[in-house]
Amino acid sequence: MTSVASQLQHNKALLTSAFYRQQQQEISSLKQQQQQQEVTPYHPVAENLDKSSKDYPWKWRSFLPEHTYKPNLRVDLTRHHEPMDFRDKVALGIVKFLRVFADAFFRKRYGHRAVVLETVAAVPGMVGGMFQHLQSLRRFKPSGGWIRVLLDEAENERMHLMTFMAIAQPTIFERALVLLTQGGFFAFYAFIYLASPKTAHRIVGYLEEEAIISYTQYLQEIDKGTHANIPAPEIAIDYWQMDKNARLRDVVLAVRADEAHHRDVNHLKANLLYKKKYSEPAPVQALRHGDVNPEDAFRQENRST
Ligand SMILES: [Fe+2]
Ligand SMILES: [Fe+2]
Repeated sequence: MTSVASQLQHNKALLTSAFYRQQQQEISSLKQQQQQQEVTPYHPVAENLDKSSKDYPWKWRSFLPEHTYKPNLRVDLTRHHEPMDFRDKVALGIVKFLRVFADAFFRKRYGHRAVVLETVAAVPGMVGGMFQHLQSLRRFKPSGGWIRVLLDEAENERMHLMTFMAIAQPTIFERALVLLTQGGFFAFYAFIYLASPKTAHRIVGYLEEEAIISYTQYLQEIDKGTHANIPAPEIAIDYWQMDKNARLRDVVLAVRADEAHHRDVNHLKANLLYKKKYSEPAPVQALRHGDVNPEDAFRQENRST
């Protein structure tokens, strides 16, 4: 009886080790196949490759292939939200006031302007996303997708900064300015968001309207030849899935399209709050860099009546 049991155990061990060996062979041949495949920057890298390996084909540490996309260049650049109430007028007044300083300081140094202002532009999404996150936890309620939309906006703005850093390096004075501005603007925006989220989103909507104007002027300078239309930085080519021969002009077009998207998302959120639609979910296009119409906040109401 004992010898039968030990024979069975022996056979089981043999089978297990054979199965294990076969499995290992399959895994290693699969890995070899994956490594032999030609990997382009625009196709997701096989997930089970070791990302810490020096042979890992994706060169960027700050974003992954699945975060890249093609900019929506058919976006409406002329949209402007007419102030509807006193808080909208305050939001527009704040933005126009800030614009005077930016114009006086940077004049036509568009590369430096972009580097410094993108450090500011990346703050509201993170602050708004954080407050939406905390609110969702506090109220035991879903966020309607707004946390992800706002954090994505912050990340997108930070990638604008990474891109322009490859084009223009900030001076020591500009670095000091960024330090001061970040402290001040973070506190200011957090206070506004707590006091009136609608005003906060409206401020971003108007800031983005101004960003579109600035990037349009940047494009005009490139077209006039005042700014050299240098080859696009590699990071921009990979992030926006651009042609490898893309130029600075293509990068500015992509950034401007992103700003138009942020404008529409923030005006939409402000309009929803204006209509007291606090739990209205974010449209899925908001996460896909697609078209978002801020007027939908009002149309949805008409449909339901
Ligand atoms: Fe930006
Ligand atoms: Fe933006």
